[in-house]
Amino acid sequence: MKNIYGISVLAFIAIVVLLVSCADPSREYSSDLQHFEPTVQFTADVDMYVSPSLETYGETDLFSDNMTARHPVPGTIPRGHIPYLYENTNEGYKLAGDSLKNPIAASPEVIEKGKDLYIKFCVHCHGDKGNGDGIIIKNEKFPPPPSYLTGVSSGGGALLDLPEGKMFHSITYGRNLMGSHASQLNADERWMIIHYIKDLQKSATTSADMSDVETEPVSEPDSLGK
Ligand code: HEC
Repeated sequence: MKNIYGISVLAFIAIVVLLVSCADPSREYSSDLQHFEPTVQFTADVDMYVSPSLETYGETDLFSDNMTARHPVPGTIPRGHIPYLYENTNEGYKLAGDSLKNPIAASPEVIEKGKDLYIKFCVHCHGDKGNGDGIIIKNEKFPPPPSYLTGVSSGGGALLDLPEGKMFHSITYGRNLMGSHASQLNADERWMIIHYIKDLQKSATTSADMSDVETEPVSEPDSLGK
């Protein structure tokens, strides 16, 4: 028999067969040596190894509805949240118009921030000058909103005279075809956009070309349609 490195070919084959048979993954050498369940667990049962905390949207026997997610306690307000107390009704709309005032002082920085937000959230409908001719209106994907300069509010009165409280109310709850923006913009951001809209209106009315723009006739207010 030929020798390879001093070992006979037969002996070499025997060693290979032996080694391959050792590689059987299902073979258990000793019940104490399992990989997945340590026989000795150094950490106690209720800590990082077996967490006692409940999964956010998991199940539990602790509550009658078996859900771990709980509703806020009635009458409580989440930290940092200021509730909006005007109801989504025509009365709430009027009340907001009469009593709500912009809590943020106007400044060039605030107006700039308002412009930035307007371009992100409103311009595609209302247009860059507020004429109600944004891109999706031009593409006939959406009926045109009234112009901030010449249009009339569905709640009555020219949009040029629309009180900031009514603006805030409409942006918060939405109005007819316009959806609510309360989940996209916090209250401060809504107020900053209102500063920008007022600024747009002011600069348009003080510019020369506004003199020949006719405002639409003011019609009777209609309901919110909700
Ligand atoms: C999908 C299109 C669309 C978007 C986006 C949109 N609007 Fe409007 N908006 C409308 C329409 C349509 C109306 C007219 C609603 C009505 O019937 O009174 C309107 C009305 C308004 C009014 C007048 C409300 C009143 O009380 O008469 C204001 C103010 C206004 N929008 C501000 C905004 C601001 C600010 C944003 C961005 C945060 C915005 N809109 C985003 C379509 C839109």
